[in-house]
Amino acid sequence: MFVRHLSLGDFRSYERAELPLGPGVTTLVGLNGQGKTNLVEAVGYLASLSSHRVATDAPLVRFGAERAVVRGAVVRDGRETMVELEITPGRANRARLNRSPVRPREVLGTLRTVLFAPEDLALVKGDPGERRRFLDDLLVARQPRWAGVRQEYDRIVKQRSALLKSAQPYLSRRARGRRPRPGAEALDPASEAASALHTLSVWDQQLAGVGSQLLYARLRLLRDLGPYLTKAYDEVSNGQSDARVAYRSSLREATAGRIAAGEVPEVAELHEEVVASLAEVRDQEVERGVCLVGPHRDDVLLTLGELPAKGYASHGESWSFALGLRLAAFQLLRTDLGDDPVLVLDDVFAELDAGRRERLAAMVADAEQVLVTAAVPADVPASLAGATRRVTLGTVETDEEPAAGVPAGAAEDDGASEDDTASEVDTVSEDDGDGVDEGEQVAEADGADPS
Ligand SMILES: Nc1ncnc2c1ncn2[C@@H]1O[C@H](COP(=O)(O)OP(=O)(O)O)[C@@H](O)[C@H]1O
Ligand SMILES: [Mg+2]
Repeated sequence: MFVRHLSLGDFRSYERAELPLGPGVTTLVGLNGQGKTNLVEAVGYLASLSSHRVATDAPLVRFGAERAVVRGAVVRDGRETMVELEITPGRANRARLNRSPVRPREVLGTLRTVLFAPEDLALVKGDPGERRRFLDDLLVARQPRWAGVRQEYDRIVKQRSALLKSAQPYLSRRARGRRPRPGAEALDPASEAASALHTLSVWDQQLAGVGSQLLYARLRLLRDLGPYLTKAYDEVSNGQSDARVAYRSSLREATAGRIAAGEVPEVAELHEEVVASLAEVRDQEVERGVCLVGPHRDDVLLTLGELPAKGYASHGESWSFALGLRLAAFQLLRTDLGDDPVLVLDDVFAELDAGRRERLAAMVADAEQVLVTAAVPADVPASLAGATRRVTLGTVETDEEPAAGVPAGAAEDDGASEDDTASEVDTVSEDDGDGVDEGEQVAEADGADPS
């Protein structure tokens, strides 16, 4: 699949941007701070309803504006679908597919992207939450229905944690030894405790039910991803060492050990294990007021040869590992869907040595659409750049034609920009330039992937 056109309204630094794109490699070149990442972030948002840079929507809306609009024309198997999102911080997003209103979640699956950015170093060096998010995002990219399961699981953990906190006065070990004070107005602690325990057991079942499904899905995913990762890391680093992934579960030790060794127990067994593991940590949970067992406490162990990557790998190795994870995700989705996700490489070439650059270029050259950003064009290997349409931001000239406009926030209009639909970002390209009315072009589109 590929994005044929991207339109932005009040997104990040762009008051308005119209960016025609095409299959193959497109390189966005521009100085730092010109808005290259903002553009690819918008593409990622259309695919995942989230940003790779921020956890909340507020920074995505242009400073001073109320809402942002991101629109993409996505072509898959010759059919075009128009995806449109309206982002209003603090309120639910609004979404449209081919101009018909839909629930935002229904947009998932229309556009699939794999986005690699400098922030991905956190996949290796950061907290477990980064790696859980990587897995769950990939799960959703693979099968959008997991978005609902994931949301439901988060809700259950929140509610169960709140219950643990509120029931603490009745359930803690100290409270259980206490007797009602004669004449005290307080309710009978014993009956309060019984009722809290009952409610807790209901939440235990919910957590185990949804949690075991999510866990099972993650384990299957990781099992499928592993071989691609080893291969991708090998290719990027030219066979320097063996990169592997293993799941670190918060379940009881025996099960956690089997899972770490790569076993994938059935959902029913995982369900029982979650329940049994919860029972074991009940007292601790009550004392601390947090849920200590379940997919939200898990991690993915990344290893290079014998050593964990986190804490041991060099900067370059960590970088290659993160890149390897994204490339593996790309290969997995490609194989799974029989269709290439859009590959976004944000600022990656500057970080790589010449050998790694060339190998990466060779690995991605056959992807249906690759969007590359770079501050220094020379960092992008000629083997890729040679095949690209170059979109240059700011007032810099492209290979063939002078720039047609300036981005928002750049110098005052100097007369270079006549066409106001293109005034926010240059859309100069070698083989495109039909930046005609969007509405006309997508009127007959159809074919959202229902999977
Ligand atoms: N919500 C926003 N409103 C206005 N400007 C923004 C907003 N978010 C980011 N910016 C601006 O966008 C620029 C960064 O753009 P970015 O795409 O990250 O640059 P780069 O080309 O280096 O990738 C910064 O100048 C920043 O101030
Ligand atoms: Mg950037």
